[in-house]
Amino acid sequence: MRTLTLILLASTLPWTVQAGSNDGPIKEEGAELLKPFKKQLMGALKQGLQQSPAEAVDICHVQAPGIPENVAPEGVELGRTSHKLRNPDNAPTDWQRELVQHYRQHEDRSPKSRTLDNGRVAYAEPIEVKPLCVTCHGPREQIPDAVRAKLDKQYPQDEATGFRVGDFRGIFWATWPAGDNPS
Ligand code: HEC
Repeated sequence: MRTLTLILLASTLPWTVQAGSNDGPIKEEGAELLKPFKKQLMGALKQGLQQSPAEAVDICHVQAPGIPENVAPEGVELGRTSHKLRNPDNAPTDWQRELVQHYRQHEDRSPKSRTLDNGRVAYAEPIEVKPLCVTCHGPREQIPDAVRAKLDKQYPQDEATGFRVGDFRGIFWATWPAGDNPS
C-alpha cells in the first residue's frame, strides 16, 4: 500500500520534471563514490553484530568515523548526517541541512545533486530505517539494556533513537570539485 502511494505521488509531483535537468552524471558519480563507504560501514556493523549488538556499538564507534578518509579518492569528501545525531561530529553543513529538511517534509526518496558556491558539486541520498537498525536507533524502551548502556557511555548527547522501520534517518553525502570525475 505504502509503495503504491509513493509511486502515485512520484508520478504527480513536480520534481519528476527535473529528470531532464542534466545532473545524471553527478548522481551516477556520487552513487559510485558512496559504494565503498556503505559497504565498509555495513561490514563493520555485521562483524560487530555477530558478537553482540552491544559489541557492534563499540565497533561502529571506533571504525565508522575513519571510513570516509580510507575510501574517498583525493579531493572527495564523504559522510553521513541527520536531523537526529548520535555522533555530533556528523552535524550537517548548510546545504546538507536544507536537504535533510526536504526529505523530512516530503515523501520524496530520490537522490539529489547540488552545485555549491565553493566550486564543488554535491550528491546526497536519503537513508531509510530498516528492521536491522532499530536495535540501536529504535524507541529507547525497545533498545536492549546492554546496548543502551554502551550508547549512554559513548554518546552522552545521543539523539538518534525513537526511529521506526521506514522512517527517514538521514543522508549519505559526497562532494568533489566541479568538473572532476574522481572515481
Ligand atoms: C549496533 C548498533 C547500531 C545499529 C544496528 C545501527 N547503528 Fe547507526 N549508528 C550507531 C552508532 C554507534 C553510530 C555513531 C557512529 C559514529 O560515531 O560515527 C551510528 C550512526 C549512524 C548514522 C550517522 C548519523 C549520526 O547519528 O551520527 C546514521 C545515518 C545511522 N547510524 C544509520 C543507521 C542505519 C540506517 C542503520 C540500519 C541499517 C543503523 N544505523 C544501524 C549504531 C548502530
